[in-house]
Amino acid sequence: MSKFYVTTPIYYVNDKPHIGHAYTTLAADVSARYRRSIGDDVFFLTGVDEHGQKVEKAARTLGIEPQAHCDAMAPRFSDLWQRLGITPSAFLRTTDRPHQEVVRDALTRLYQKELIVQREFEGWYCVGCERYWTEKDLVDSACPDCRRKVEILKEKNYFFLMSRFRERIHAAIESEEMLILPKSRRNEVLGFLDQGIGDLCISRPKRRLGWGIPIPFDDEYVTYVWFDALINYISGPKYLADNGDWWPASAHLIGKDILTTHAVYWPAMLMALELPLPRTIVAHGWWNFSGEKMSKSVGNVVDPAELIENYSGDRAAVDAFRWFLLAEVPFGSDGNFSLDAFERRWTSDLSNDIGNLVSRVVALVEKVAGGSVETQFDDGGRTQGWKDALENFQFARAAEIIVSIARDTNQYVQARAPWSDKENAPETLSRACGAIGVLSAMLAPFIPDSADEIARRLGFQKAPSIAQALSGFTATVFQGDAIFKRPERKIAEEKKVFATIDDVKKLGLRIGVVKTAERVEKTEKLLKLTVDIGGEERTLIAGIAKVYAPEDLLGKRVVVVTNLEPAKIRGIESRGMILAAASDDSLSLIGPLLDMPAGSEVR
Ligand code: MSP
Repeated sequence: MSKFYVTTPIYYVNDKPHIGHAYTTLAADVSARYRRSIGDDVFFLTGVDEHGQKVEKAARTLGIEPQAHCDAMAPRFSDLWQRLGITPSAFLRTTDRPHQEVVRDALTRLYQKELIVQREFEGWYCVGCERYWTEKDLVDSACPDCRRKVEILKEKNYFFLMSRFRERIHAAIESEEMLILPKSRRNEVLGFLDQGIGDLCISRPKRRLGWGIPIPFDDEYVTYVWFDALINYISGPKYLADNGDWWPASAHLIGKDILTTHAVYWPAMLMALELPLPRTIVAHGWWNFSGEKMSKSVGNVVDPAELIENYSGDRAAVDAFRWFLLAEVPFGSDGNFSLDAFERRWTSDLSNDIGNLVSRVVALVEKVAGGSVETQFDDGGRTQGWKDALENFQFARAAEIIVSIARDTNQYVQARAPWSDKENAPETLSRACGAIGVLSAMLAPFIPDSADEIARRLGFQKAPSIAQALSGFTATVFQGDAIFKRPERKIAEEKKVFATIDDVKKLGLRIGVVKTAERVEKTEKLLKLTVDIGGEERTLIAGIAKVYAPEDLLGKRVVVVTNLEPAKIRGIESRGMILAAASDDSLSLIGPLLDMPAGSEVR
């Protein structure tokens, strides 16, 4: 029996899961289900990445402890996987004790081998991405990834001597000891290595970041979140699998944005730890929404659970979602999510090509063959094509083969007209039922519940294995409701957006007392204010000069959004916003009815 160990990235719990997270996890689920169906022994690991600045910041914004935040967020991921019919073997949390022990052990070993050393370091640091950049990486003096401002940081830190492994990593990729798919990504990594790599800063001083695994040999530091996170791939099987002996992974499925960490940092860490490399790394593309990058601030992030509820919320809707994500674009390319595209594929592949074929053939077997036929199927090499595609993580290719079988069978039935050509009807229906059996086997990794439903129409309890379907069987048909009703959107217009209590808390509203106010030169509307928000003075710009004279505002109590992203307005950095009630022709600042002290929370 072959072993197959597949992983997804572990997801940051700073936010709830979205379509991008669902995508990788679904792809891993399809691979795992396929491998199980051919008899492999499978371990499928997913989980959440709970340490680091992003998560700490998200918790602080909510005013709760990071651990409490993680405890609330982790089930959101595991619940969604369950909703989507995703069946991982284990769900890892980086706050799990045994995981932390493995990380600390790895740090100790590398420190003892002098592959981790302390150095004084000065560099450009992006707080959002939690990483240093070199001068040449910067774009317009900003972070090349998130475009936020970077700052110079100087501190002592621990470095992993990654640069020592450059040649070996290069060779391992070139020889395909560690295969990177798609090929274009492999070349990208080789090119990156050719330019030379530095050493990796793997610590953060505790005073700057408390939420991490303490470094075993220096308790003033915690470990860098990526060092902690990547280790999950080896720690997971150790304490979450019945038999811990799974490493090396057969495949790490990841998004293209985290290729360097997986194809450069991770192999360097493994080489240093004297462990084998993962066999394959597959980097997929990104989903956009109606042509735009998905982003929280634009509010166009697709929540899979909401999407499914916005249709029938049943098996068909879940499976249409699973099918769409993997069939719509080649794994590796970027995709565009839109409700129209989703509905088109649901209707065309599932309702029309596959669903109609099943209803039609089942009805004909009932009518002209007494409800039962012995099946046969001419493979024409197509199941091998499907296998090859799945084994190479070409999910859309496998889906295309499935649809082509459904279409060809529809055409075959149409051409042979078993309703009138009674003489050839038994053969026609025998082949058509054979094709449907094979289809249900091929669909099973993608849409397991619907594949079982299709198989039940032929008298199976659940979807047969591909070998079983190909070897011929007696189909005893059963007519039921349509397997894939056409999509019906509940809310036709734009997604309705509700703010959760957490969203409201995120605004960081506080009472501020205006300390100074002056007009911003050469503007009619703008005032520059300094506001005491409780032990801190904030400068902010407000567009209220037409209604308020600066002197009227001194000492006034106002409501301030304290954590609005800072913005430069007329060369002045505005760090917050004051709230006002506005109608077409009037405007009034909003303040507390009683004299609440500066800094009071508004909640
Ligand atoms: N915690 C790290 C991974 C550590 S793995 C040892 C992380 N987490 S993440 O939550 O930010 O992202 C995880 C994955 O989601 C990445 O593979 C990323 O590519 C994927 N996606 C996030 N948004 C996406 C889209 N819009 N489309 C497709 N996938 C995207 O990175």
